[in-house]
Formats: sequence, structure tokens, C-alpha cells
Amino acid sequence: MEVVIADEHKLAQLAADAIERLLRTETAPVLGLATGSSPLRIYDELAARHERQGLSFAHAQAFMLDEYVGIAADHPERYRNVIDTEIATRVDFAEEAVHGPDGSAEDLAAASAGYEQKIAEAGGIDLQILGIGTDGHIAFNEPGSSLASRTRVKSLTYQTRVDNARFFDGDVDQVPSLCLTQGLGTIMEARHLVLVATGGGKAEAVHQMIEGPVSAMWPATVLQMHPHVTVLVDDAAASRLQLGDYYRHAFENKPDWQHL
Ligand code: GLP
Repeated sequence: MEVVIADEHKLAQLAADAIERLLRTETAPVLGLATGSSPLRIYDELAARHERQGLSFAHAQAFMLDEYVGIAADHPERYRNVIDTEIATRVDFAEEAVHGPDGSAEDLAAASAGYEQKIAEAGGIDLQILGIGTDGHIAFNEPGSSLASRTRVKSLTYQTRVDNARFFDGDVDQVPSLCLTQGLGTIMEARHLVLVATGGGKAEAVHQMIEGPVSAMWPATVLQMHPHVTVLVDDAAASRLQLGDYYRHAFENKPDWQHL
């Protein structure tokens, strides 16, 4: 795991650099997109590079991590709509190139299996953007999730619904309690995982993810088993790391040729 501690602007630049490199070198790149507030600066940076430098997504596909179940199709917080607003419509993805799990499907198990198949048919995900919940969830894999899980229906914890209530007029009762989410096993198959976390509220989850024992109680700890993970954190999110000085030193002394 590479841990980079920097300010939010620099973190977004680094993530956008990795995505830009992929878009410019691969003929059919596959991106993994995340919702939540953590990736928003990355999306702003990508949209700016598209606008100013012609960075193109026309040959790329993208897959979302998760979706609420039981939310109106036109609700602005439906993840599909969030992704359209925050990134998909701001750049030049081809029509039908951005995929998400269908939380409105009648047969959610079939929709989950179909989504796994679509990812496989695209050749797997090259670079997956991730955030982390305060309880250590990634996508919507709540504590107790199987570390080998695949795309499926999950119940959200009350804490996650409270955390997400800010997007629903502060009313926890409006936050759906079911979702479809890529599993931890699905996420682990992406070739490069880039997780971004900012703010003191994430400090314990970040510490557990990087330095704690691998456990379904902190689902993000499964990333310790992945060969290529980049964790991008600001000072506040890094504040509980035991080896913070070492991570800073390692990044400052990294050879120029070595990308994220
Ligand atoms: C939600 C999303 C996750 C996201 C998490 C953290 O639960 N399903 O993908 O990582 O929230 O969100 P934020 O970045 O807003 O803190």
C-alpha cells in the first residue's frame, strides 16, 4: 500500500494524473467511479483537464460501485444521477459507456450477476476510485461483509444512513436502507485501487485500513491484500496513523520514474 499525505488539492492532482496516464496510454481503459464527497475534487480536476487540455474519455468505459435500492429514478441523490452530474456529463464519455448497478431491477440478484458479467466483458476495471465510510466500509460493504463478496444487495448500517443524511435534507428516514453494491471480492479484482479520504472523521477508519488487522469488522482492511493500492489522505485523515512520518518520508523520496 502506498500512503500519500498531502492537501486536498494535491491529492486530486495525483489521482487525476493516474487517470490521465491511463486514458492516454490504454486503447480501451476502464474506470471505476465512486460517489460520496471524497472524489468530487478529482472529478472537478478531470473535467477541467477535459475542458482545457482536451483530455478525452471517448474511448473509455466506467463502472459505478453501488446504488441505492428504492429511490426514485429522478432523485438527485440516486447514485446514477450523482455520477452523471459530477463527472459523466462533464466529459465526453460515449453513450452507454457509464454503467451502474440497477437498484430499480425487479430481480436484484439477477441484476447483480449481470453487473458482474458486464465488468468481466469489459476486461475488468483498470483503476478504481474509492472513498471510505467512517465505519471502514468501501462502496457499501458494511462491517461484517464477506471479504470475498460479489455484487449483491446489502442493508446499510444506521451510522451510514446518518452519515449520508446530509444529502437527504438531514433526514435519516429519507436515506434508503437497502443498496446494490460491488462486493469486496469484485473491488479487489480492479488492477489499481485509489482511495481518497479527508477530514478527522475518517482518521480511525484510515488507521484501521492501513495498520489494523485484516477483518470484516473494518471491511477496507481487505485492501492490505491487494498488490496495487494508493491511499490519498489529508493531514486530518492521517492523524491517527502510527507510521505517518515513514509514509511522508517514503513519498518525498520516491524516484521520479515511479508513478502512483
Ligand atoms: C457512501 C458511498 C461510499 C463512500 C462513502 C464515504 O456510503 N457508498 O462509496 O466512500 O459514502 O462518503 P464520503 O466520501 O462522502 O465521506
